[in-house]
This record gives sequence, structure tokens and C-alpha cells, in this order.
Amino acid sequence: MPRVSSRNGHRPQPFASVEEVTSRLGDVGYLADRALATTVFLQARLGKPLLLEGPAGVGKTQLAKALAAATGRPLLRLQCYEGQDETKALYEWDYGKQMLYTQILREKIAQIVADADDLAGAVEAIGAHDSVFFSERFLAERPLLRAIRSPEPVVLLVDEVDRADEALEAVLLEMLAEYQVSVPELGTFTAEHVPLVVLTSNNTRDLSAALKRRCLHLFLGYPSAERELEIIRSKSTGLPDAVSGHLVDVVRGLREQGLRKPPGISEAIDWARTLALLGATEPDAGLLEDTISVVAKYDRDVERALRVLPALAEGERPAPAPEPGGADSADDPGTGAALRAARDTPGRHGAGYYGERTGSPAEPRRVSGSQGERSFVANHGRRTR
Ligand SMILES: Nc1ncnc2c1ncn2[C@@H]1O[C@H](COP(=O)(O)OP(=O)(O)OP(=O)(O)O)[C@@H](O)[C@H]1O
Ligand SMILES: [Mg+2]
Repeated sequence: MPRVSSRNGHRPQPFASVEEVTSRLGDVGYLADRALATTVFLQARLGKPLLLEGPAGVGKTQLAKALAAATGRPLLRLQCYEGQDETKALYEWDYGKQMLYTQILREKIAQIVADADDLAGAVEAIGAHDSVFFSERFLAERPLLRAIRSPEPVVLLVDEVDRADEALEAVLLEMLAEYQVSVPELGTFTAEHVPLVVLTSNNTRDLSAALKRRCLHLFLGYPSAERELEIIRSKSTGLPDAVSGHLVDVVRGLREQGLRKPPGISEAIDWARTLALLGATEPDAGLLEDTISVVAKYDRDVERALRVLPALAEGERPAPAPEPGGADSADDPGTGAALRAARDTPGRHGAGYYGERTGSPAEPRRVSGSQGERSFVANHGRRTR
């Protein structure tokens, strides 16, 4: 298969054609439609990040994982959340390790300050050795810097970027503009291999026009009935085709009912597995009702869903209900916060999903002055690796 060289001339492009994108993603279990495959192809060719926006559970995150699997590249993931600061995205100095070294080396340090007459002199003497402690040995890379410094090409997933504060969005923007990160104490690191970058957003807040401009932008909506059936089939749920087809129609009908959390592809797959476990061999309204909690996660959604299920199970299409969050909707103010809360179903993410996140929302971490200001493409010694 013909491959075109990458910008540094050493690495082949990951995909030779749109068709190859479709087939290689298909090989790793991700069924992409033409629009998505074309965008991925262009992304790889143009070296641009891909910004995927769309409702929950339509395969945004999964695309990045599939891209990594299809190209054999490691996946680096930055999970965004409110209050996250750049030290968790870029790098921080490994304070614990620095302390450990100073403890172990205290005799040596004592020698360094031994000749100092006063405190200022001692500080000066220690200061002359700053570079030892702010060196690569003590640099704790976070996903963005790791992606830039990686000796091999990677896929970088910046997940749920709409949850990040605007300050972090600005950091991302700068990093994505040049694929460079500047660490004032060390210099500017430039990516040897442009990473395949996927940003996802559920649109809980508007992203800046600048970020959108920087990216190839694609709205990933719910798939067609045929594709959704294909996806369910590909997951070997054990549900007979006829029931799966029926299920897809029911799920699509539910999506029109203005639920607070409309079912995504993932819920459709879960529902198919559940029905298979319960031995469903034909469309059965009773079984659908009994298992509605698999797809409806809020009391009000369950109520609404149960109201329309009999009609949906009969193949009818009840009148669509208004979207939640209208101006007159008391329980759903329609703000980004409400949308986020709606998506935060318990167990949605496993333990450790948010990386080093400790509190909620996290207090911005303080970065000491000695660690220097983070700036990008600053006037520091340019460092290419
Ligand atoms: N095109 C697809 N091909 C195969 N499986 C898919 C596809 N789209 C979605 N899925 C399935 O749906 C699941 C949910 O997808 P994913 O977690 O990527 O959704 P998401 O859009 O990131 O949702 P959220 O906004 O809630 O994070 C995946 O684990 C995968 O099993
Ligand atoms: Mg996701």
C-alpha cells in the first residue's frame, strides 16, 4: 500500500486513502461513516487536530482509541474537568523527588553553603545550582508535553475539552498551533512527530472560535438506523438480528422524546446485551419496559420512556417531545452546568478515569515562582529533539 512521507520525512502517513481509514478502523471494531473517515484522512494528511462535537455515547472517545489501535500508536489521554490547571496538562516539577534528593544530598549541600557568610550568600550559593534541580530528571511530564516529547508518533486524546476552563483551552491552543511546549528552565520542545490529536466536546459550553479554527471540526451525531444496527451486530451481543433491528427503532424513537439524557450508541449496545441475557428472541414490549433503566437514567426520563414505549414497540412513532432545558423548563435550566450534571451518571467512568484529580472541583494548584512562568514558544533557547 503506498504511503506518503510525513513532515519529517521519516515516518509514513498512517492512511493512504479514505477507504483505508474505513477498513483499518473497521478492523479494530470501529465503524466509521464516509464523513468521519474522510475527516480522519484529512486530519492525518494536514496534521491538524480533529474536534469532534456531539451528544453523549456516539463514539467520540472511542474514535481516538480506535485510531490508536488501527495505527499501532500509543494513546495519550488528557481528561478535562472544571478547575483543572495546566500543571496537570503540561508538566510539573516532581517536588517529592526534589525533596528526596535534597535529603539524601544534604551533606553535599551543606558543603556548598559552608563558605557563605550570611543567609543571602547561602541562597546565592544554592541558586547557582538551580539547574540541577530544574532539569529533565525532575520533570514530571503530563499528557500534552508527553505527546510532544514522545520519540514515537502518538494519538493524543483531549477528552471533553468543553469541561476545561478557558485558561486551559488557551494553553491547548498554543500547543496545537506549533506542536511546541516551552519549559522556561529547559527550553522549547518541538514535536518530532506531529501527533494525531482528537478533541471531544459535548457542547456544554461554546469553545473559542480560535480553537475551532485550528481544528478540523466534525459534528458526530447519532448514526443512521442501518449503521447503528451494524454497530450492535459487530459487538456480538447475542441478540437475534430481528430484535436488534426493532431495538434500534425503539432507541431512535426514544431520542426524539426530549429525554434529559437521550440514549447513545453505548446504551443501545447495553440494552441489546441485556435483552440477549434475558433470552429475548423476538420483539417484546414487556421486556423493553422491564429493562428501561438500562437506557433511561433519570426518574423523569423513565416516566417519559414508559409512556411512549408501548407505541414504539408497536412500530409507531409518537410525536416528538420538546428538548429539555427550554426557557420555561423549571427542572432543566439548560445551562452547561445542568447538561454536565445530566451526563454525570454514577459509574460512567471507572476509578482513576480522571487521572490525578483529587477534589471536585479541584482547587487550582499553586505553582511556585521558582518554577517559573509557563510560556509557549517563548524567547528561550529553542530545543528540538
Ligand atoms: N462507530 C462506532 N463503531 C463501533 N462502536 C461504537 C461506535 N460508536 C460508538 N460505539 C460504541 O459506543 C460506546 C460509547 O462510545 P464513546 O464512549 O466513544 O462515546 P462518547 O461520544 O465519547 O460519549 P461521551 O460524550 O458520553 O463521552 C463505545 O464504547 C463503543 O462501544
Ligand atoms: Mg467520551
